[in-house]
Amino acid sequence: MLCVEHLSVKYNPAEEHYALRDVSLSVQDGERVALLGANGAGKSTLLLALVGILPPAEGTIQVDGLTLDKAHLPEIRQKIGFVFQNPDDQLFMPTVFQDIAFGPRNYGVPEAEITQRTNEILEILGISALKDRMVHKLSGGEKRLAALAGVLVMQPTLLLLDEPTSFLDFQAAKRLSDCLRALKQSCLITTHDLPFAKSLCDRFLFLDHGELSAADPFHQSHCFCAISR
Ligand SMILES: Nc1ncnc2c1ncn2[C@@H]1O[C@H](COP(=O)(O)OP(=O)(O)OP(=O)(O)O)[C@@H](O)[C@H]1O
Ligand SMILES: [Mg+2]
Repeated sequence: MLCVEHLSVKYNPAEEHYALRDVSLSVQDGERVALLGANGAGKSTLLLALVGILPPAEGTIQVDGLTLDKAHLPEIRQKIGFVFQNPDDQLFMPTVFQDIAFGPRNYGVPEAEITQRTNEILEILGISALKDRMVHKLSGGEKRLAALAGVLVMQPTLLLLDEPTSFLDFQAAKRLSDCLRALKQSCLITTHDLPFAKSLCDRFLFLDHGELSAADPFHQSHCFCAISR
């Protein structure tokens, strides 16, 4: 599904500093992988590179056998659902319904199906009551769930979720984890929420200063407070 080989990324090509250095990883079909690491470790940078927002300095990215380059970017973007770390970077239509419907409308999905899919996803995420609310008047957690709905409604084959439980209360995080577990899609999820990661993910990767570490993240006590459920 996803194959990354020797990926390095720099924010400033003129500088020595790499935000990611020589990262290789893969995510298989249907697999849910957690990407853990301290603040500034490079988790969001990796996800931004995977959707072609940040260009690699070195290395390759393949999604479903397609190499991420200019020619394949539109096709790859259709396969990936990306939820930004900050929901304000994602939501831009006036109401929740309009925002969720924007993506499917863009791809010519019939209106009746858009309404049906939107209602379904709102129900699953427990936010049906937000359907006609103004996006800019939502709370942080409500915005997070609306942004997730806008991605899930597109039925992508690979979900890249950047700290999906930030701003969420316990119930909403549980609903989200149940919802993601019920999906067939592959997921790469960055998170500081270890109980969420442990309850949902098949495998854990640990980024340390831009490099994948072989260390067991659950023993990185300087970075995490591991809580078992
Ligand atoms: N736009 C930018 N320009 C320059 N450097 C950046 C930029 N965004 C992030 N960085 C740097 O790249 C490194 C990785 O940042 P990144 O946002 O990927 O970390 P993260 O693991 O997602 O952290 P967090 O857990 O806080 O979200 C950090 O040193 C950060 O300061
Ligand atoms: Mg981040």
